[in-house]
Amino acid sequence: MHLRNLELSNFRNYKSLKLELKPGLNIFIEKNAQGKTNLLESIYRLSSGSSYRTIEKKEAISWGDEMAIVRGRVKKNNKESFIEIFFPRKGNKRARVNGSYLKRISDLWGNLIVVMFSLQDLDMVRSSPVYRRQFLDRILNQINPEYRHHFERYQRIFNQRNSLLKLFHLASNRKKIINTIDLWNRLFVTSGSFIIMERIKLLEILK
Ligand SMILES: Nc1ncnc2c1ncn2[C@@H]1O[C@H](COP(=O)(O)OP(=O)(O)O)[C@@H](O)[C@H]1O
Ligand SMILES: [Mg+2]
Repeated sequence: MHLRNLELSNFRNYKSLKLELKPGLNIFIEKNAQGKTNLLESIYRLSSGSSYRTIEKKEAISWGDEMAIVRGRVKKNNKESFIEIFFPRKGNKRARVNGSYLKRISDLWGNLIVVMFSLQDLDMVRSSPVYRRQFLDRILNQINPEYRHHFERYQRIFNQRNSLLKLFHLASNRKKIINTIDLWNRLFVTSGSFIIMERIKLLEILK
């Protein structure tokens, strides 16, 4: 897989940038605060729309501008795809692959596979387990569509099940709710155990 070029518009300190990337190793050297990390962030965002630095979409947009755009051409098994992500200040971010809009931003997973190693990754060893899970999830979401399926399903079930549990305390007909919770529990376990097993398999490889 090779990211052939990168185009930024109103992305952080880049008003407009067109960059060709060579296969193999590319090295960027500049003084502090010139945009090296911003450049890496934009590539990272091209793989999923999200950032490793912030959950704030707005931070990607150049100050005073209305929309950031990141574009990149990816070559994979002799096939080229053109990825575009739009980060408007108002409204949701959207993505296009080869000119077609994706239904959900998460449909981007797998088009460009990115592995990032940064200072923040030290949180993985220093901080709470959520960072370690995120690290594994990010890899598995990129390479395994079945994982993606269960991962998304798990979040949905998690929310539904929690709402039901809250409702339970207020409900007059608890029996009905218990039956529904029971149904959710089964789905919860199916997706949850799949996720755990895949994380363990990956850990074995990483070890
Ligand atoms: N949303 C933004 N709009 C405009 N400039 C930004 C934005 N976010 C960060 N910057 C600027 O980008 C620069 C930092 O770039 P960075 O990639 O962190 O530099 P470095 O080359 O040191 O890695 C700073 O000058 C900062 O002010
Ligand atoms: Mg930096």
